[in-house]
Amino acid sequence: MNVYDSRRITDMLRPLGYTETDQPDDADMMILNTCHIRDKATEKVFSELGRLREMKDARKDAGKHTVIGVAGCVAQAEGDVITRRAPYVDLVFGPQTYGQLPEMILGLNGGARVINTDFPVIPKFDLMVGAAPANTGPTAFLSIQEGCDKFCTFCVVPYTRGAEFSRPVRDVCDEAKKLLDAGAVEITLLGQNVNAYHGDGLDGTVWGLGRLAEELAKLPTLKRIRYMTSHPRDCDDALIAAHRDIPVLMPFLHLPIQSGSDMILKAMNRKHTADDYRRIIERFRAARPDMAFSSDFIVGYPGETDADHAASVALVREIGYASAYSFKYSARPGTPAAAVQAALVRDDVAQARLLELQDAIFQGGLGFNSAHMGKTVDVLFDRFDPDRGQIHGRTAHNQPLHMAGTVDLLGKIMPVTVTGYTGSALAGEVISII
Ligand code: 5AD
Ligand code: SF4
Repeated sequence: MNVYDSRRITDMLRPLGYTETDQPDDADMMILNTCHIRDKATEKVFSELGRLREMKDARKDAGKHTVIGVAGCVAQAEGDVITRRAPYVDLVFGPQTYGQLPEMILGLNGGARVINTDFPVIPKFDLMVGAAPANTGPTAFLSIQEGCDKFCTFCVVPYTRGAEFSRPVRDVCDEAKKLLDAGAVEITLLGQNVNAYHGDGLDGTVWGLGRLAEELAKLPTLKRIRYMTSHPRDCDDALIAAHRDIPVLMPFLHLPIQSGSDMILKAMNRKHTADDYRRIIERFRAARPDMAFSSDFIVGYPGETDADHAASVALVREIGYASAYSFKYSARPGTPAAAVQAALVRDDVAQARLLELQDAIFQGGLGFNSAHMGKTVDVLFDRFDPDRGQIHGRTAHNQPLHMAGTVDLLGKIMPVTVTGYTGSALAGEVISII
């Protein structure tokens, strides 16, 4: 979502006369878009700010003024810490304020520092719709939903991104058309709780994600629709049926479970059990037999025992994920879990559990990928590496695939024969050109 937000920030700055540069010497303004989800991400912000300060000082010696901005969830959650620890920062603004960027920049002209961590009444998207997207490449992100009302005990999102909000279907369709006009062929619909989407529909009723996907699938140049991230509680029948009925809706679902243990799921306030999750996976598989899955896991949540951890490892083996992400629990300021003092998991124990879980995930990836050896899969090519003469793309199941190729394949969907694999990627060769 930060990638999407950064693009939109850039789109908003363009009409004010700004253009992008990859040369820090040239930059009159540098905005760091930040993530607060785990402690490591937050610490990175402060070390990165140190680097920006050096660039600002070097430019000052050359007689040039530089504005440094911090956007995103660290700005939202730790705005006061930033102004104290990094007084050279001019602009601190949270994720819901991006629509007010032009006013904020005007405010800077007076020389004062601007701090904006409001949750404005007018949704940010309404203020950002005017800006045209720059050329996006073949794959584009589109935020359709933001914020979260689930309040998992470990998570900062409900506090930093705010309450759940869905954009109207009309706005989503309009933005999708602009992205397609700018060259996209795949759109990934984004939201912290994307399958909780409930936007105003085109017929006066409220539409869910399945119905929205059906509408978007009518756009003739849209070849692939994806979405992330979903919550098990919000997988309704319409979404499952959409995977059966809509060919451009990719047969892939990122569905975080966080833990395989019901005790831990309860402590996390996840509002579902491991069995609920298994049943949801079965329903998707019944509707679309080749559906592939990925997940997020947290190890070392307070109170997690060896048996709880073993349940997570067993669940990874049982589901057969195409891929999955795993993280060591990180206490986030202001969340309920951060107040828990009992049965904290020692770091070396959590580290060992992380390695064990990651090994199970990698083995699962090997199993999933090996089943594709020798088969032909459709790949959308999205990146070219001229130095290695290699082209990179993704299969319908979102698995990365690379092969020798030329730049003219970019943006095309081709049948590719899988000739090799690791636990996390495929290698292939084009067998025919359409
Ligand atoms: N500690 C570790 N991992 C976390 N996540 C969210 N909050 C935390 C935390 N406090 C992980 C979850 C979520 C993913 C985006 O980040 O697995 O699904
Ligand atoms: Fe955070 Fe996801 Fe839980 Fe919402 S559902 S609180 S975003 S982990």
